[in-house]
Amino acid sequence: MQVIILPSARDVALYAADCVVDVIDARTNPVLGLATGSTPIALYKELVGRYQSKQVSFRHTTSFNLDEYIGIADSHEQSYRTFMNRHLFDAIDIIATNTHVPLAESQDAGTLKKSAQDYEASIQQAGGIDLQILGIGLNGHIGFNEPTSSFASRTRIKTLSESTVVANKRFFKDGEFQPHLALTMGIGTILDSRAVLLMATGKAKAEAVKAMIEGPLSAMCPASALQLHETATIVLDEEAASLLALKEYYQWCEQKRQQLHEGNVS
Ligand code: PGA
Repeated sequence: MQVIILPSARDVALYAADCVVDVIDARTNPVLGLATGSTPIALYKELVGRYQSKQVSFRHTTSFNLDEYIGIADSHEQSYRTFMNRHLFDAIDIIATNTHVPLAESQDAGTLKKSAQDYEASIQQAGGIDLQILGIGLNGHIGFNEPTSSFASRTRIKTLSESTVVANKRFFKDGEFQPHLALTMGIGTILDSRAVLLMATGKAKAEAVKAMIEGPLSAMCPASALQLHETATIVLDEEAASLLALKEYYQWCEQKRQQLHEGNVS
């Protein structure tokens, strides 16, 4: 794992935006894995700004989002499709049909299972994901892979944990139906991405971040599965990094990495 600790949440967003733009510049048909939640909003804002100032075009980019709620329409205010359209897709030149969010509107289990299989097939057909953006839940989830999710899991129906339902309650109106199920890429699906970039900011994430980086490999912290990924970058602000035991070591590694990049091996 490459652990990058930056002064502020804004620096985390800028760093992630640079990584996304690097992938777009390097590939003829880049495939991005995208995430929802509060953390990547600053990244999307930055990408929209860079598109508007003509620093990047998404014309040839394909995207796959991690997850979607089951039981609400795509057009629902709180669906992840609506979130992505609002925060990114409607403001850039990506071709709408090249943006994918799991189709989870159906109430029929068979239809949802088929939708999950089709999602995996679409990722394959696109050539796999070049860079998967991730956030981390308070309970260590990635996508909606809640604690005890198999590290081999693929896109499937997942029951949300109580902690996730409580954390996301703020987005739903009082008395409004709040989904307890989701269609989510599995941990195996995420690990297949050629590179992953997990962003975490704020003190509330410090425990989950510590478990992910320094804890044992355990299904109790789904994000710890990223320890198995050859090209995983974890980008943190100071608060999210505050409980890491080896914080100075990660900062030193980063200095050395930059020196190596400049050809200096001393
Ligand atoms: P957040 O959610 O960015 O809103 O904190 C992250 C997640 O639950 O994956």
